[in-house]
Amino acid sequence: MERIKTDILIIGAGAAGLFAALHLPRELDVVVVDKGKLGGGGSSPWAQGGVAAALGPDDSPDLHAADTLRVAAGHGDVSAVTVLCSEAPECVMELAELGCDFARNEDGSLHLAREGGQSVARSVHSDDATGAAIMSTLRDKARDRVTRIEGSCLQLCVVGGRCTGGWVLTEDGLVEVAARSTVLATGGIGALFTSTTNPVGATGDGQVLAWEAGAGLADIEFVQFHPTALALGDSHQRLLLTEALRGAGAHVVDSEGRRFLFEHHSDGELAPRDVVARAIASRHSWLDCRHIDPALLEEEFPNVLAGVRTYGLDLIKDLVPVQPAAHYFMGGIQTDLDGRSSIPRLYAIGECSNTGVHGANRLASNSLAEALVFGRRAAKAIAGQRMGPTKGLAAAPPLQEVDIDVDAGWVRLREVCSGALGIQRDPKVMASVAGALEDLAILPLTGSTRAAELRAGAILVRLMARVALLRTESRGGHHRTDYPSPDPDWAGVRLRVSRS
Ligand code: SIN
Repeated sequence: MERIKTDILIIGAGAAGLFAALHLPRELDVVVVDKGKLGGGGSSPWAQGGVAAALGPDDSPDLHAADTLRVAAGHGDVSAVTVLCSEAPECVMELAELGCDFARNEDGSLHLAREGGQSVARSVHSDDATGAAIMSTLRDKARDRVTRIEGSCLQLCVVGGRCTGGWVLTEDGLVEVAARSTVLATGGIGALFTSTTNPVGATGDGQVLAWEAGAGLADIEFVQFHPTALALGDSHQRLLLTEALRGAGAHVVDSEGRRFLFEHHSDGELAPRDVVARAIASRHSWLDCRHIDPALLEEEFPNVLAGVRTYGLDLIKDLVPVQPAAHYFMGGIQTDLDGRSSIPRLYAIGECSNTGVHGANRLASNSLAEALVFGRRAAKAIAGQRMGPTKGLAAAPPLQEVDIDVDAGWVRLREVCSGALGIQRDPKVMASVAGALEDLAILPLTGSTRAAELRAGAILVRLMARVALLRTESRGGHHRTDYPSPDPDWAGVRLRVSRS
């Protein structure tokens, strides 16, 4: 088995992982584990809308914080929100200085788009491909700063109560990476659902690595469904029709052409995502952009237009059918405001982490902001800690042969997860998850990444269902058929689970 020693091991090569890497001192050796092409396999490059940052003349970090907390449905952590909203503008300006090609107004100032839940235009964007622009900048700058390993981490190692690295499965077998500090930046869980806006690698494996190492997870009952994914095609991956389209004036209509969202919220199309998603899920719905200036659509949304055209429809001329799809995980590895998990030397940043910043429902474009702000903070915290010697790893996990149909396992996992933890949650269905996925959750580790992801997904979905059953109310992205309203007694109560 190949053995590597490094100062910092970052697992995940999306916006959070690479922005953190760029903020680590140059003298530290950094290894980045990437499941796909450098930074190309995760959700970051897919982000359309933008990065939320209070940069407009009518905006302020306080207003951004107020919007974030309102949308978080009484569950947001005020300290985390304050940090996010006050540091996001500086992170965006840093990215611009690194060369990120954000859209500009004629006077050179950053162009801001408006999305759901934002009381003013606040999303710094690069047309409708903001994540791709950010990732291209970060990949470029990180290339000569990090050693990249293409593979997937199978297990973390904890020695003497500290995380000392982990084992990575690559095409050439298992690689042991001993590190002074380890950072999880593995992203979300959308690929566990039958319908998602996330890429195939968003399987929650980082959350399960942390859980198995003994770290705490929090808020894992809260999943965000994006209201307007294209309701066409057979793939479980859905084309996202960015909320910025609604910010630019697009309507959501029913089969009679009625704009029905105002019956659910006074902000109509720009109401918080959980409200809009539930309303759209309750009937056949279409996005109507036909009244918007075609030149504006072509200029600001070229990728969405092109994507929709591949399905034979044209946003300029046609009504386009939409349905919600799993989009973002508010829960994750519980951390402090510098990314520290409950295990010394193990950090978590970005979507796999949970600072409480999103509460029960994330505000639009706060995810890229979160990745940058908390990635940078974790890097600074790591730089400020006493490094200490690299500790060795314990014995590598044994890899076993198993005879299992992994593809069939994935179909079952997605069906069980979507049936139990979708937009509307039924207690009996949630209670059936533990039994339905038991065989997958106890699979041994094998030499197959897909099988390892399947096992991790089953473990996480069972945990999520257990926690979702405990929360006997509806709030944000957790909506129960038997308790359809928020219960004030649950406000701010955060459920945390850990093995230790
Ligand atoms: C979108 O563009 O609608 C998604 C952006 C986000 O999830 O924040």
